[in-house]
Order: sequence, then C-alpha cells, then structure tokens
Amino acid sequence: MDNIDTLIDAETIAAKVRELGAQITKDYAGEDLVLVPVLKGSFVFGADLARAIDLPLRVDFFGCRSYEGTSSTGVVQTTLDLSSSIEGKHVIIVEDIVDTGLTMAYMLDNLGTRRPASLKLASLLHKPARTKVPVDIDYLGFSIEDKFVIGYGLDYDGLHRNLPYIGVMNA
Ligand code: IMP
Ligand code: MG
Repeated sequence: MDNIDTLIDAETIAAKVRELGAQITKDYAGEDLVLVPVLKGSFVFGADLARAIDLPLRVDFFGCRSYEGTSSTGVVQTTLDLSSSIEGKHVIIVEDIVDTGLTMAYMLDNLGTRRPASLKLASLLHKPARTKVPVDIDYLGFSIEDKFVIGYGLDYDGLHRNLPYIGVMNA
C-alpha cells in the first residue's frame, strides 16, 4: 500500500468549501448560475461546492485532460463537451487544481466564445510555482507548494480520487 501524508484534512476542506459557497451565493444574489465542474478531477469538489451554494443552480460537465502520470503533456484534449448552451448564462468553471494553467486557459477561451453573461473560475487548489500561463482564479481554496497531490477527486493514474482529504504520496 502506498504511503500517503495528509496535506489538507477533510474538515479544513469542508470549511473552505462552505466559505467559497457563501461568497458565491452573495456575489450572484438574484441570478441563476451554471456550475461547470471539469471532469474527472473536479467531481468531488463540484458536488460539495454545489451544495454550499444557495441559488437557482444548474450543473453541466466538461471533460478534458492534459496529464499522464505526474506531468502535464502540454496538449489539452476535450473528452466531453457541455450538454447545453451557456449563452447569456452566468457560468463558473469548477477545477480541482490549477497547475501550469494550460487547461484553464484553454477552457476559459473555449467557453468564453459561447457568449456567457459572465465566466468565472473556482479552483480548490493552485500551484503558483508551476505557472506557464497565468489565469485569474476568482474563487480559490488553497495555494500549495509544488508537490504532486492526490485525493478529494485528484488522481495518480486514475487512483486515489476517493480519498476524503488531500494527500502527498511518499516514494
Ligand atoms: P494544468 O493544465 O497544468 O494547469 O493542469 C491541470 C490539470 O492537471 C488538473 O486539472 C489536474 O487534473 C492535473 N493535475 C495538476 N497537478 C496535479 C496534482 O498535483 N495531482 C493530480 N492532478 C494534477
Ligand atoms: Mg483536472
């Protein structure tokens, strides 16, 4: 069994998600909102964040990938497109982690062309040391050091997404 150290425990994550949800609820008061969790990694954060937001809310998924193992390939592939139009809608992309920024730059560009009323980004994690393309994160959970993390939706070659906390694998 792999040896995993806890970086951010489940309670700390839950408190932060409640805080982000409350802020979003306040910022979008009186509006409808579309949350777009980016698959696969954001399915856990997206599910928790959706339940921390008290607004008329729709959820649609977008799938993309740029990683193999523990490094970005630099090429972003779409694996699933939205199921409905976001034209005229307030949209928040929900991401697990912004690493190089390549995936989010691609997504903001792609969804931006569909003429949403507004487009913002919520990311649970950010690794500022790895930035290649700077992206504005409107709702950020935690900035972390340049370590490969797993859990709470994040994987290593498909595994560990079901850990309830964010961990770091020891070699
Ligand atoms: P970026 O395009 O380099 O910003 O990478 C973004 C994507 O890479 C994220 O959505 C994750 O799926 C994946 N990723 C980046 N860093 C990590 C990590 O430390 N653990 C697991 N996945 C990661
Ligand atoms: Mg991802």
